[in-house]
Amino acid sequence: MKSLQKRIAIYPGSFDPVTFGHIDIIRTAAKMFDKVYVAIANNTGKKPLFNSQERLAFMKQATKSISGVKVEMFNGLIVNFARKKSARAMIRGIRAVSDFDYEFQMALANQKLEGEIHTVFVMPSEDHFYISSRLIKEIAQFGGDVSRFVPPFVESKLRKKLS
Ligand code: PNS
Repeated sequence: MKSLQKRIAIYPGSFDPVTFGHIDIIRTAAKMFDKVYVAIANNTGKKPLFNSQERLAFMKQATKSISGVKVEMFNGLIVNFARKKSARAMIRGIRAVSDFDYEFQMALANQKLEGEIHTVFVMPSEDHFYISSRLIKEIAQFGGDVSRFVPPFVESKLRKKLS
């Protein structure tokens, strides 16, 4: 009998920092795939608040109880990372129509680079729809309460970093 192929997905991003919205998407992806590699971009193109080691550590802690999930850092093109992991799916969270332009462009470019890897858009639950790492950093910067948006260990580091 032919052995069943494992369904492997990657979930790339800068995760600066990880939010409950990201965790929600990872939980959904872990139900859909046998293995999900959360891929933390080392070079994001933006100047991150948290360095890659900090973002990696946050994500590992945030996902340690979700089975089938592994967190790794990547450099260079995401399609190369996906190929190395034998992934056929790339997860991206999509919240609003405003996300779509950028996500659509990226999905098409990635598909041109590697036709065997398909982007799968996952919607966060209603509770997390409006969360973004950018907004959370802004709220924290001005002393707002971000405990509803990020795990406690991220919240305390945010406060320290921005104080
Ligand atoms: O969370 P972000 O910042 O929207 O994530 C974007 C990310 C890191 C997934 C994207 O910039 C990326 O894949 N970078 C790696 C370089 C690459 O492959 N670029 C081509 C994408 S079409």
